[in-house]
Amino acid sequence: SNAGALAGRKVLMTAGPTFEDLDPVRYLGNRSSGRMGYAVAQAAREAGAEVLLISGPVALADPPGVTVQRVRSALDMHRAVLDAVAGMDVFIGTAAVADYRPAQPAGQKIKKTRESLTVELVRNPDILAEVAARADRPFTVGFAAETDDVLGYARRKLEEKRLDLIAANTVGAGQGFEVDDNALTLLWPGGQQELPRASKAALARDLINVIAQRLHAPG
Ligand code: PMT
Repeated sequence: SNAGALAGRKVLMTAGPTFEDLDPVRYLGNRSSGRMGYAVAQAAREAGAEVLLISGPVALADPPGVTVQRVRSALDMHRAVLDAVAGMDVFIGTAAVADYRPAQPAGQKIKKTRESLTVELVRNPDILAEVAARADRPFTVGFAAETDDVLGYARRKLEEKRLDLIAANTVGAGQGFEVDDNALTLLWPGGQQELPRASKAALARDLINVIAQRLHAPG
């Protein structure tokens, strides 16, 4: 049980995908269902935290006791996080935020007049890196979704973004995204721990326990 592990702590989280509009009827999205992030929000709440979840578009009910703010795009999510981050004790980025968005979303439905269509994409802000770079940063936790060299890329993200902890998972067909179970490797400066395949609810509880321990750990 992890009852009380985060009692009195304020946790800000992101979950789900972001949708990047191409025109009034079409968007670029990704396979994130929000299940991992919603499970983490529920586990944090059950551990006694006050939880604000900034959620991309998902088909999930709000976890009981969690305040959920729904957003659509990476820019919306970025703004919502920056508006809420001051005074938070922990930030957990579980969202699959689009790295790029269409440079100029069309005002009207794009017509099928040409044989090929090129869409220019521009970089989105990195929400997690911005949170980690703040002088008053919360304990900052990222996720790393990779198809290959999972631990190598995750360790790099931990160091480059100066995170306190990162949860690495393999994604691909039927893995990580959309399904009910997952497997995580937790990495922090100087250590790591495997969380073998289990339900996202069980993994979320273990992750919250490790966060609570490291939050209290010296250094
Ligand atoms: O939603 P589910 O279907 O349950 O699937 C769960 C999951 C696979 C989406 C989840 O476990 C997961 O791995 N989430 C992170 C997905 C991701 O976008 O990883 P990334 O390696 O591209 O990003 C690294 C970190 O930076 C993440 O914490 C991400 O939230 C954050 N980020 C990325 C880009 C950006 N512009 N802003 C960010 O904050």
